[in-house]
Amino acid sequence: MKVLILNGPNLDRLGTREPDVYGRTTYADLVEMCEAEGRDLGFEVEVRQTAHEGEMVGWLHEAADASTPVVLNGAAWTHYSIAVRDACSQLTAPLVEVHISNIHQREEFRHHSVISAVASGVIVGLGVEGYLLALRWLSLKK
Ligand code: DQA
Repeated sequence: MKVLILNGPNLDRLGTREPDVYGRTTYADLVEMCEAEGRDLGFEVEVRQTAHEGEMVGWLHEAADASTPVVLNGAAWTHYSIAVRDACSQLTAPLVEVHISNIHQREEFRHHSVISAVASGVIVGLGVEGYLLALRWLSLKK
């Protein structure tokens, strides 16, 4: 079974981007960790990242059409992109929203997610391990 792990803008900068907030794990490390966890759980995991909103919307349509579960870190789009939310609303398999940092402890503009209401569940503030926890939860739903 396939799982798509989709990441929004600036997440390709993990490791160098604000390490006090996001840690020192690089994006390449994250991809490797997710693929390894996926293998252990019997998933075919594909990790993608984009800074282009239309590309993200297209990937969500692809997941909707194929009934593929999604782990989504929408990054900044989380807080304002109705286009990403509307694409998430069309998903036909579980959606887990993940944030590396605890968005509720940060600036007020990060406290609200337009995605959460259409997600199956949300994992915030548990670092990059949040992605692995999301995969574990999806494995219980297989
Ligand atoms: C983030 C939190 C967002 O507020 C921010 O814009 C990101 C990353 C997180 O993983 O903690 O880019 O989604």
